[in-house]
Amino acid sequence: MSLPLVLLSLLSVASLVAAEVRFSEIRSDGRPIIPFDEFGFTHRGRLELNITKLSLSGPTPDSPALSKVGFFLSTRDAWVHVLQQIEDGEINCVLGSDAVQKVYTFDRLPSLTTTELNYVYAEIDADQYTLVFANCLPQLKVSMSVRSAMYNLEDGNSNRRDYLSAGKTVLPRAFFLFSIIYFVLAVVWVNVLYKKRLTVHGIHYFMLAVVLLKALNLLCEAEDKSYIKRTGSAHGWDVLFYIFSFLKGITLFSLIVLIGTGWSFLKPYLQDKDKKVLMIVIPLQVVANIAQVVIDETGPFRHEWVTWKQVFLLVDVICCCAVLFPIVWSIKNLREAARTDGKAAVNLMKLTLFRHYYIVVICYIYFTRVVVYALETITSYKYLWTSIVAGELATLAFYVFTGYKFKPEAHNPYFVIDDQDEDAATEQLKLEDEFEL
Ligand SMILES: *[C@@H]1O[C@H](CO)[C@@H](O)[C@H](O)[C@H]1NC(C)=O
Repeated sequence: MSLPLVLLSLLSVASLVAAEVRFSEIRSDGRPIIPFDEFGFTHRGRLELNITKLSLSGPTPDSPALSKVGFFLSTRDAWVHVLQQIEDGEINCVLGSDAVQKVYTFDRLPSLTTTELNYVYAEIDADQYTLVFANCLPQLKVSMSVRSAMYNLEDGNSNRRDYLSAGKTVLPRAFFLFSIIYFVLAVVWVNVLYKKRLTVHGIHYFMLAVVLLKALNLLCEAEDKSYIKRTGSAHGWDVLFYIFSFLKGITLFSLIVLIGTGWSFLKPYLQDKDKKVLMIVIPLQVVANIAQVVIDETGPFRHEWVTWKQVFLLVDVICCCAVLFPIVWSIKNLREAARTDGKAAVNLMKLTLFRHYYIVVICYIYFTRVVVYALETITSYKYLWTSIVAGELATLAFYVFTGYKFKPEAHNPYFVIDDQDEDAATEQLKLEDEFEL
């Protein structure tokens, strides 16, 4: 596969957040292939098609010719096979291939003037499928309103429907569990703040806000997903989810910048260049969140979808790079201060802390952005939740590390340093200068 294709498939897996009931309008469309949605079926899968306002225009075809127009389901492997068959000239229409599963072809329409159609298709081969509409009659134009709902019936005798794709059906529970963990962390943090209240800085309250927003965001996501799982559509919770995810995004990036600059525990003010970083990151987070909403609410097969996905990735990469600068500046300042102001040990300790923080921020960004995408592409559709859970675990580890390393200290180690430490530190700095560590 070529690179753009690999990227595109990577992206489309990455954000099929919820394959819910979808409404699509098709107006006088002559496209030979119109993809709709992707969904992971179990062996009790169902596809419900409700078509209204159906009309065909162009030279009126006879009914048998309409077997070349209709809906089908295809796995990715089958699709590769079909493209090969077409290239080899074995078939001239996708619907002629036996690799795809024909759902409904228009030769089955009761009459050419039919405008409405309701159909349920039972899928018993568990796999990940894409619902596609094919029109192999070049002059025919199709108009219709399509409601497509894909779901799995739950195991056992029940007829309860599960509108979440096979690999995502555990997500509501996973998000709920993580939200409880963050609420517990928030309680622990309040406790720490209370005990060490004499050494608490502004940044520590800010951290509390970040953890609480993360917990609320996960809670809304859990509720949103579980509502989609039961009904196939999102409701009010998705708005709350977007609001909290927006606030969480802004506060988390600001927190990384503020800690990186050493605000409130190294220095009480922000320098101009630190403020500039914040002024870049915050508006970009606004853009990123708008992009996220559009990506979630439109299907992956619209034109705008790919554009917004690219906007989101670009903005995200810029934010991730921007937050590293303040940490690098702090490390540089501390190194210089250590050499000039004679308190080498104090500064060296801070220096080590900031270096660790720098490495951990990079690991966090790398893991949640790159490793998670990679996991998503290599895991089978049945285990798509594993990559999401891995990303959440990495995030949790990052929150815990940040809280632990920058917690309020009763015995501030920066000020209890004896001469021996001081000599050792000066030695180490000299060494560092020699090797430019
Ligand atoms: C869609 O079609 C199915 C199958 O005929 C039917 O059971 C269902 O009620 C229809 N839904 C809507 C919204 O029309």
